[in-house]
Amino acid sequence: MTILVTGGAGFIGSNFVLDWFADAATAGETVVNLDALTYAGNAANLASLEGDARHVFVHGDICDRALLDSLLAQHRPRAIVHFAAESHVDRSIHGPGEFMRTNVTGTFTLLEAARGHWSALPDDERARFRFHHVSTDEVYGSLAPAAPAFTETHAYEPNSPYSASKAASDHLVRAWHHTYGLPVLTTNCSNNYGPYHFPEKLIPLMIVNALAGKPLPIYGDGLQVRDWLYVSDHCSAIRTVLARGRVGETYNVGGWNEKPNREIVHTICALLDELRPDPAGPYTRLITHVTDRPGHDRRYAIDARKIERELGWRPAETFDSGIRKTVRWYLEHADWVAGVQSGSYRDWIRTHYGNAP
Ligand code: NAD
Ligand code: DAU
Repeated sequence: MTILVTGGAGFIGSNFVLDWFADAATAGETVVNLDALTYAGNAANLASLEGDARHVFVHGDICDRALLDSLLAQHRPRAIVHFAAESHVDRSIHGPGEFMRTNVTGTFTLLEAARGHWSALPDDERARFRFHHVSTDEVYGSLAPAAPAFTETHAYEPNSPYSASKAASDHLVRAWHHTYGLPVLTTNCSNNYGPYHFPEKLIPLMIVNALAGKPLPIYGDGLQVRDWLYVSDHCSAIRTVLARGRVGETYNVGGWNEKPNREIVHTICALLDELRPDPAGPYTRLITHVTDRPGHDRRYAIDARKIERELGWRPAETFDSGIRKTVRWYLEHADWVAGVQSGSYRDWIRTHYGNAP
């Protein structure tokens, strides 16, 4: 048996592929991993799979229909797990075009290829086939401080070019099920953190900047709230929905860990003070408040009761255990950090933050 994963060299995708082979229930299945290796894709995340015949890496683009058709014909996957996307909100504000291309046109192209493949399968394979779309809580927009958390029936109110492109892709997936019967599953997940997280996002950026003695840039007042989920919990949720989720349904996935950004940054500083004390003083001395993100969503919160009620999934990590593991991982993987801080990474940091951090 084989699955096709898109974007499996990125942060969550690479964790998903590694966890797939580590889980006894799925370890025997081949993964065909299609990734364009953009700035966010990193073959080094998958170095431990070198020479492993269960992992077939394909360097290619989800907008390439001919490539998709040939991969589907050759490998006949029983499922597609679709991670590939442009994923950083700040980059979508600087340049939304790539987000429309990959997240909207790419998802459309993949759906069409999947539909062609699925509709020609023999009955038993056709009944078993699944298209799992990995999406985000950002499609629901921003919550007032005391508003109830996002359920699966919350209105779509995306506010950034990134979340609008993901919302568009969710709508396409829904329509391909409704109109053509394609057996889709969608998960909308909150903020992930953990190993292999590219240091343009809040948690890894704060860790690598602190270790380099650079400023820790908090947008605005830093009281924006996110719900944080350790990445291996997201991967186990996807495996659960893929195995037992009801076709055509969406499932919200979250960590029950709502925290303001300021608290996240203070927690990271305290862990670094403990694990890698800096003779120059506590890491909080590096905190700096910078101009806010345009259109910055104030609060996200996920109500993850449906996936628990229907499928028995709950996160295994608390925020305390997950953030400690994450900080340790970055301390132990200085080579990986150095490897991703290439010229293009430095260009982004300069473009976005100016010369300061
Ligand atoms: P990422 O940016 O780390 O990785 C994206 C991967 O997709 C990279 O490996 C990149 O090379 C690949 N890719 C980009 N364009 C491609 C294309 N045209 N063809 C093929 N591959 C392409 O992203 P991530 O944080 O791992 O997120 C993965 C998915 O999960 C995304 O769909 C994102 O919207 C969703 N998501 C992310 C989070 C989060 O907190 N990071 C939370 C919820 C949902
Ligand atoms: O909610 C799920 C989403 O979480 C995913 O769909 C996205 O792919 C993922 O990037 C993430 O989006 P956010 O915008 O919430 O994540 P980010 O790490 O960029 O920012 C988290 C919060 O921290 C947000 O309120 C902005 C703030 N922030 C971020 C950076 C990079 C700062 O204060 N300073 C920073 O330098």
